[in-house]
Amino acid sequence: MTEAPLGLLAELTHRCPLHCPYCSNPVELVTRADELDTLTWQRVFDEARELGVLQMHMSGGEPLARPDLPELLGHASGLGCYTNLVTSGLGLTAERLADLVDRGLDHVQLSVQDSDRANANLIAGVKAYDRKLTAARLIKDAGVAFTVNAVMHKANLDHIGGIIALAEEMDADRLELANTQYYGWALRNRAALLPTREQLAAAGPVVRRAQERLAGRMEIVYVIADYHEANPKPCMYGWGSRQLTVAPNGDVLPCPAASVITSLPVQNVARSSLSEIWYGSETFNAFRGTEWMREPCRSCPRKEIDFGGCRCQAFQLTGDAAATDPVCTLSPDHGLVQDILATEIVETRPAFAMRRSV
Ligand code: FES
Repeated sequence: MTEAPLGLLAELTHRCPLHCPYCSNPVELVTRADELDTLTWQRVFDEARELGVLQMHMSGGEPLARPDLPELLGHASGLGCYTNLVTSGLGLTAERLADLVDRGLDHVQLSVQDSDRANANLIAGVKAYDRKLTAARLIKDAGVAFTVNAVMHKANLDHIGGIIALAEEMDADRLELANTQYYGWALRNRAALLPTREQLAAAGPVVRRAQERLAGRMEIVYVIADYHEANPKPCMYGWGSRQLTVAPNGDVLPCPAASVITSLPVQNVARSSLSEIWYGSETFNAFRGTEWMREPCRSCPRKEIDFGGCRCQAFQLTGDAAATDPVCTLSPDHGLVQDILATEIVETRPAFAMRRSV
């Protein structure tokens, strides 16, 4: 039986002041003219709550680019939901944050690009580092729960200890160190982002020692670099099982990257309710449970652990969203990943293709 979703990722806008090469938003961004308006977002939040959603993540792009963010966040909080602001920190002021807290903001997730100022600014494509230090102080002063998120790749993995120290200085409650996932814009930059095995081998013990040292003070979550792993990641804990994403134009997706799967119909809040989409749509039912699986997943003892891996990755690499994730060593397509690792990991990092905003 299909259970209700726990969370809604509301991508309020694709507009963003940063230009990060690892951005996993689609190559074609939604323009401001095509963004949902305030009333439609509020209706979407109503439908999400009726569906059972308890956590609303205001994301983007940069959600602070929406002047109606306070109304939207207040509406979500008024429905009894836990609210999370996922932000670059650029555009955050003491006044704006106090207003959001007044309206029920529970948690802020702040991105950082590196602990080295020059390198952080290079990766962000803008002088963002010092503004993030300021944003972190504002968030701590406001007293809301605070997560720092850093996307890890070839150009910052060697600084992982410094990034942990930066999060400690910021006094974060939680640190997410997430190796890059190659979707959307990030796929274009894969050769510039893929770390070496030596970099990953050196980073692992640094993270484990910090996890032990900081236990009870700052939780550290480390998201593995899946191309280098033997088993695929349990993407989204299974397709259409826990969370749904609404893109800035109202497209409803089983995961933030699912617009890459062009073989599935696109759902939109203008045409159907969230409940119809979650329970009844072809797109959300396509890979639920284990019945859709073929071999080697169908008879695999790990099929309820990793759910066949990532559907978006399977589609991107093989053209078939129902294929076993090629990251899995049992996949008949695993050679594709081995070829990528053999050819794209190079000594000198290629230049980044920086993200341009809409
Ligand atoms: Fe879409 Fe993994 S990112 S299923």
